[in-house]
Amino acid sequence: MSDQASASKGLEGVVVAQTSKSAINGQEGKLAYVGIPIQEFAENHAPYEEVVYLLWYSRLPTRAQLDTFSRELAAQRSLPEPMLTILRDFPRTADPMAVLRTAISALAFYDENPDQLSPENVRRIAASLTAKIPTILAAYYRLRHGQEPVAPRLDLGHAAHFLYMLSGESPGEQSARGLNSYLVLLAEHGMNASTFAARVIAGTLADVYSAITGAIGALKGPSHGGAPPRVMHMLEAVERPELADQWVENALAANQRIMGVGHRVYKTFDPRANILREMVKQVAQERGEARWYELSKAVEDAAVKRLQGKGLYTNVDFYTAPLLGSLGLPTDMFTPLFAMSRIAGWTAHLMEQYADNRLIRPRAEYVGPVDKQYIPFDERRASG
Ligand code: COA
Repeated sequence: MSDQASASKGLEGVVVAQTSKSAINGQEGKLAYVGIPIQEFAENHAPYEEVVYLLWYSRLPTRAQLDTFSRELAAQRSLPEPMLTILRDFPRTADPMAVLRTAISALAFYDENPDQLSPENVRRIAASLTAKIPTILAAYYRLRHGQEPVAPRLDLGHAAHFLYMLSGESPGEQSARGLNSYLVLLAEHGMNASTFAARVIAGTLADVYSAITGAIGALKGPSHGGAPPRVMHMLEAVERPELADQWVENALAANQRIMGVGHRVYKTFDPRANILREMVKQVAQERGEARWYELSKAVEDAAVKRLQGKGLYTNVDFYTAPLLGSLGLPTDMFTPLFAMSRIAGWTAHLMEQYADNRLIRPRAEYVGPVDKQYIPFDERRASG
């Protein structure tokens, strides 16, 4: 009755779109944004705004272009007043990732032109969301702690400004630089699950708000952006470096997955994990507080020793936890911070999708019964 093809579970190895935003070599552990290796952004302390510009325009900005672009983003940091009312009404126990998902969806109500898909309008909404996500997260964080949200400023860069909105005080240079590097490293990563979700939604010609709301939902799961808080809980459970080997042994014997380990594409160390590891080490040296570095390194060594035979190594989420933790950021903000970075890549992909759209509509392999008959209620017998 149906023409059948067999299922490719998890779409592993399936190429569903073309992109010029990032290239990944999973065997060699390489990642490049628009052709530029990821390490170069980290080494040159590229500001997050520069990477956003690169991903949206596919070229590096001049100094003047970057200044204009950064000012344009900063000018859109304020939330429409009703958004603050909504945030105040949310339960203080809500997961910040769920808050972000709902807030992004609600933001569409206060946009006069949310559904128009011209390149200019899509870029306008992309800039607005990129600028407002940190404001939403910081506002909810403060409300949850019984503090009033602080009004956005225009004079700080993206990362520093987020830290300012969290605490109400200008952050130290070291913390702002650490968060900026994190945001740069997570900004884009090919056809990952949340980007795919965004492109599927955009493929129906639905609006940017819908696509980003869906992407946030996909990012929330532990197999994707939900891993870093779980890495933190694991590190806390391990407690001390000398206990790591036995802890990992026991976890694997109990068939548990080691969070922050394994990747669908990388079959060696994730290049972002290598950079984050060095950053965690550096923060430890600068602060004379080696606990998180030594603990993470011990868990990584114990896990990789046992799992590398299966091609499983640490991924970006592993060292995200000790990095953001040592910057003093709360554990349940780790995944929202991933979203705050990845909005750049999501929206870059939406621009590509809308510019050359075709409905994304794969097939399912039918494995249910065939040639059955409809039986009227009175003739049906209960089964099971
Ligand atoms: N710890 C232990 N074993 C793991 C593992 C982990 N973190 N990740 C995968 N494996 C094992 C699986 O048990 C499976 O083993 P088997 O073949 O003996 O059954 C094998 O590796 C393949 O796993 P599979 O789930 O098919 O791989 P995937 O490509 O679908 O999954 C992830 C990729 C990322 C979802 C998976 O590695 C994972 O769950 N990692 C932990 C969560 C995480 O860090 N997520 C963030 C990703 S950036």
